[in-house]
Amino acid sequence: MLKVESAVVRYGQITALHGVSFEVGQGEIVTLLGANGAGKTTTLRMLSGLHTPASGVISFEGRDITKIPAHQFANMGISHVPEGRRIFSVMSVEENLDMGAFGRKDKYDDDMERVYTMFPILKERRKQMGGNLSGGEQQMLAIGRALMSRPRLLLLDEPSMGLAPMIIDQIFRIIGEIRDSGTTVLVVEQNAAQALRLADRGYVMENGRIAFTDQASALLDDPRVRAVYLGEGID
Ligand SMILES: Nc1ncnc2c1ncn2[C@@H]1O[C@H](COP(=O)(O)OP(=O)(O)OP(=O)(O)O)[C@@H](O)[C@H]1O
Ligand SMILES: [Mg+2]
Repeated sequence: MLKVESAVVRYGQITALHGVSFEVGQGEIVTLLGANGAGKTTTLRMLSGLHTPASGVISFEGRDITKIPAHQFANMGISHVPEGRRIFSVMSVEENLDMGAFGRKDKYDDDMERVYTMFPILKERRKQMGGNLSGGEQQMLAIGRALMSRPRLLLLDEPSMGLAPMIIDQIFRIIGEIRDSGTTVLVVEQNAAQALRLADRGYVMENGRIAFTDQASALLDDPRVRAVYLGEGID
């Protein structure tokens, strides 16, 4: 579904991605792991057209999207939940969801209902300002907003960041449901153990490169992953 070949992304003089290659298949949950600064966010931003690769090729559903600018990404089938969530804090929950449907000419009431079914707390709070929600609720809203464009590929940047374990469990369960309902998922996570339990496959990034890749279950047992990303005491 998605294929990235030898992508190079630079910030001025700094090269953030040194020829990154990976694939995501239809219906998969794929996780990108890596230390701070490894290039995970840059990779997702590149897939939303926010960074154009200096070289390399990105194809999505067989189409070359390497040079498509961000504003043309709406309605392409890729939706991005950025790091730090970035919901609109002075808009209500409902207005945030409306923004997620921006550009759609059809009716999207069903999609909003689907988001509310997925996250009942958002329905209760639908008139509240985004900025007054808890961190977990904001993450739910950010995911809900991204689903309003009916993406076929959902990009999630650290959805568990700063959230309590119980909320993280809930978010991860819902990511599984999103996939089960037919949306392919690429998720960046610091929480490697939980991400690998959910994902089908994983890629480990180091210094702007893919260091290694495997089935998620194999990565959970991989000594390189255990040493660096899982620490001690993992079951
Ligand atoms: N706007 C920018 N200008 C210059 N350098 C940047 C910019 N954004 C990121 N970088 C650099 O690019 C590299 C990759 O950053 P990126 O944010 O993609 O990493 P990350 O894996 O998402 O890290 P984290 O886990 O901390 O979120 C880092 O060396 C970072 O300092
Ligand atoms: Mg990041």
